Amino acid sequence: MLRTVALRSVRAVAIPTKPAYRDLDPETRELYKKIIRVDHAGERGADVIYNGQYDVLKNTDAGPKIKEMWEQEKEHLAAFEKLLVTHRTAPTVLLPLWDILGYAVGAGTAMMGKEAAMACTVAVEDTIIGHYNDQIRELLKRDPQQHAEMIKLLSKFRDEEQEHHDIGLEEGAEQAPAYQLLTNAIKLGCKVAIAVSNEI
Ligand SMILES: [Fe+2]
Ligand SMILES: [Fe+2]
Repeated sequence: MLRTVALRSVRAVAIPTKPAYRDLDPETRELYKKIIRVDHAGERGADVIYNGQYDVLKNTDAGPKIKEMWEQEKEHLAAFEKLLVTHRTAPTVLLPLWDILGYAVGAGTAMMGKEAAMACTVAVEDTIIGHYNDQIRELLKRDPQQHAEMIKLLSKFRDEEQEHHDIGLEEGAEQAPAYQLLTNAIKLGCKVAIAVSNEI
């Protein structure tokens, strides 16, 4: 029996301000730029996926839940948009492509039904949770003190993605047609998108 997942109310997101960009050593600057670029791409992807789902399912009983999760993704995206500026980081050049593909995946799975949309959510969030955990582990390994603010931000978002993942399961993801096939395909797509966004 799954526990009922309730999203906490929308909270203000604290953007890491310390250490300031100018105080970072060159290696950390590069590391942060890499983190910010790929996470920005991921959150943009999440934003358009939920947008696609919402456009298809807004007048169904899944509408409000999708809207709630989408609102949190907008917060995540806004945080990384600010970090792109403060850390003088260029977004991935592939944003327009992720926009189209993300929307298509969100709307496409939603057209297969609410369960398929939720299966999409579970697969995407599962991949993103693993990705945030990798980054958090890397920062902890380097210097928990120095990276405390970034670790806090990534951990907060990781926890919220976990809530989305659990909501997806609770809302019937596993009842989606060809659940394993669908989720494996989406997870693979996310991993490819992450790998490519890391590079360009
Ligand atoms: Fe997110
Ligand atoms: Fe999420």
